[in-house]
Amino acid sequence: MPFPLLAIETSCDETAAAVIGAGGELLSEVVRTQVADHAVFGGVVPELASRRHVEWLPAVVDEALLRGGLRPADIGAVAVTVGPGLAGCLLCGLGWAQGFALARDLPLLGVNHLEGHLLAPFVAQGDPPFPFVALTVSGGHTSIVRADALGSYEVLGETVDDAAGEAFDKGARLLGMPYPGGALVDQLADGGDPRAIHYPRGLQHEGPHFSFSGLKTAVRVAVEREGSTPTGQRLADHCASLREAIVDVLVQKCVAAVRRSGLDRVVLTGGVGANRLLRERLATQCAENGWQLHVPPKAHCTDNAAMIGAVAALWHRSGAEGRSPLDIDPSLTLVGAGTA
Ligand code: KG4
Ligand code: ZN
Repeated sequence: MPFPLLAIETSCDETAAAVIGAGGELLSEVVRTQVADHAVFGGVVPELASRRHVEWLPAVVDEALLRGGLRPADIGAVAVTVGPGLAGCLLCGLGWAQGFALARDLPLLGVNHLEGHLLAPFVAQGDPPFPFVALTVSGGHTSIVRADALGSYEVLGETVDDAAGEAFDKGARLLGMPYPGGALVDQLADGGDPRAIHYPRGLQHEGPHFSFSGLKTAVRVAVEREGSTPTGQRLADHCASLREAIVDVLVQKCVAAVRRSGLDRVVLTGGVGANRLLRERLATQCAENGWQLHVPPKAHCTDNAAMIGAVAALWHRSGAEGRSPLDIDPSLTLVGAGTA
C-alpha cells in the first residue's frame, strides 16, 4: 500500500513536504519559504537555495509527519519533484527522497513540477474534471495548456522570453521594491491608477505566445525619465500600470485560447495566479462566457508539496497492479549526483 504518501518539493526557493492519504486527502503540509534569504541579493541564488534545502528539509518533513500524526515508519511511498527547476535544488530533494525510500524499501515516484501546478486546483478534490484549458503562470513559466486527460497535455501558447512572474519581479526591482515583488506590486496596485503610465503589451495581437521582456526596458525608461525611483502615489501608479499590462495580455490570450478550444472549463494556476486582478478579470470572463473556472487557494498557487503528492496519487491510481507510471528506481545513480 503506497499510502500515506510523502511528497517533497525543492525545485526553487520553497522547501516543502506534504502527506497524502489513501483517498487522495491532504493529511498535512508544510512550506518553508526562503524568500528572506534571497531578498538581500535581489533574486534567488541557486547555491544558497540548495544549501537551505539540505539544512531545512529534514525538519520540514518531521513537521509534516508530526502534523499528520504519523511516524516515518507509517509512510508507504515517496513522491518528489524531478523538474523543471534549479538543478542543484532538485538534486537536494531527490537525493533525500531516494535515501528515505531506499532505506525503507518504498516506491519512489518522480513528479513534474508543472504538472503539479496544472493540477493544483484539484488537490484533495478527487479526479480532475478533464478536459480543460489552463493558464499556468509562475516565476519560471508562463503557458496555456490544453489538458484532455492525465498525461495528455498540449501546450497552446507559452512565453518566448520572460515568465509573467519574472516580469512582475524584475519590474518591481526596477521600481526599487524588494524581491520577489509580484505580491507587493499587486498590493500597491490596488491604490494606483492603471492608466497613469502606458506599459507595452508584448505580442498582443500576434497569436497565442507571450513576450514580457520588453517590460523591463519600459519600466527602466519610465523611471529614468522621471529622474528618480517613484515613491508614494506615483509608485502605486506604476504598480497599477505594470499589473494592468501583464494581466491584460494574460487574460486576452487565455480567453482566445479557450474560445478556440471549444472547451468550457478553465484553470488558473501558478504563483501569479495569486494576483488579485488576474483572478478577478478571468473570473468575469469565465462568467460572461459560461465557463467554469478552477483556481487553487493562494497557498497552492505558489510552490508547495501538496500538488506534487496529489499528482503522484493520481498517477498511482492510473497504474496497473499497484505500480505507478512515475516509478523511478531509488537506487539509480543520477548523472552528476555523485560528483563534488
Ligand atoms: O509558482 P511560484 O511559487 O514559483 C515558481 O515556480 O516560479 O511563483 C512565484 C512567482 C514570483 O514571480 C512571484 O512574484 C509571483 O509568483 N507572485 C505574484 C503574486 N504572488 C506571487 N505575482 C503577481 N501577483 C501576486 N499576487
Ligand atoms: Zn512553481
